[in-house]
Amino acid sequence: MIFDSKIIYNKKISENFYHLKLKIKKNLVPLPGQFVNILIDDSCDIFLRRPFSIFNYENEKLEIVYKVIGKATKILSSKKKGETINFLGFLGNSYLDFISNNDNTSNDIILLGGGTGIASLNFLCQWLKNKKYKFTLLYGAKTKKEIFFLKNFKKFNTIFTTDDGSYGNKGFITHYLEKIVNNNSLIFACGPEPMLLTIKNLELKNKIYASFESYMGCGFGVCLSCVIKVKTDNNGFEYKRVCKEGPVFDLNSVILEKD
Ligand SMILES: Cc1cc2nc3c(=O)[nH]c(=O)nc-3n(C[C@H](O)[C@H](O)[C@H](O)COP(=O)(O)OP(=O)(O)OC[C@H]3O[C@@H](n4cnc5c(N)ncnc54)[C@H](O)[C@@H]3O)c2cc1C
Ligand code: FES
Repeated sequence: MIFDSKIIYNKKISENFYHLKLKIKKNLVPLPGQFVNILIDDSCDIFLRRPFSIFNYENEKLEIVYKVIGKATKILSSKKKGETINFLGFLGNSYLDFISNNDNTSNDIILLGGGTGIASLNFLCQWLKNKKYKFTLLYGAKTKKEIFFLKNFKKFNTIFTTDDGSYGNKGFITHYLEKIVNNNSLIFACGPEPMLLTIKNLELKNKIYASFESYMGCGFGVCLSCVIKVKTDNNGFEYKRVCKEGPVFDLNSVILEKD
């Protein structure tokens, strides 16, 4: 469905990161892991919508956290309170599709968020906390400047890492995953593909579900620009649409580029 919603605020929160809050219609309730496809500008330059995960939702207010990396996100960062944002939503599957009622009795849910991937996991953290699940969040960033909402993430059981050691532990979150994982751990991840590949290469026996950030065209299953390769039972593969069957997939079933 297509919606128009007013910007409550759109502010800079950290180096190149912005926090967008929108007032949305009643009865529109997203699930953790889903995303919206925003029409940034209808110029022929950026006519394609851009996908963003839902960072949080509460009381008819939808939050997105985004990094300015190119033309569309630069324009988005210039939008002001009171302006209207047009988006398609809520799209894709949810992390919740992979959580059973039994999981809240265990202490073993591990979430790994690298770079902008942390935006998608925050909503899941809020959901797990509200439902009294126990979990550990591994939050990785390049430097301290790229860590946002420190206070918010400290509310959870969070291990911070930075590549340069400027905040938290020095190194990659995947290293800490190896330290805390056990046979019963259920793992969720969202981050750049090299991070997902590293997790996959650990060859853990655990169930691991990862959210993918492919390039998208339509966002609703028609253009096929977002497809990834997923293994089939007969040792072949088929293409799946990140926007429709995903963005969350069983990581071990996905064939990554450098596999
Ligand atoms: C399901 C989904 C959820 C997402 N959630 C978020 C989010 O919560 N916060 C956030 O900041 N971003 C998120 N993204 C990524 C976001 O959509 C892109 O950063 C945005 O579209 C870039 O637009 P642009 O015009 O500013 O940059 P462009 O000019 O399109 O790209 C600038 C540079 O970034 C690279 N790039 C752009 N998009 C991607 C991508 N998807 N994967 C890898 N490299 C890319 C390009 O190759 C180029 O080098 C998500 C993507 C998907 C598919
Ligand atoms: S973005 Fe068009 S099919 Fe996925």
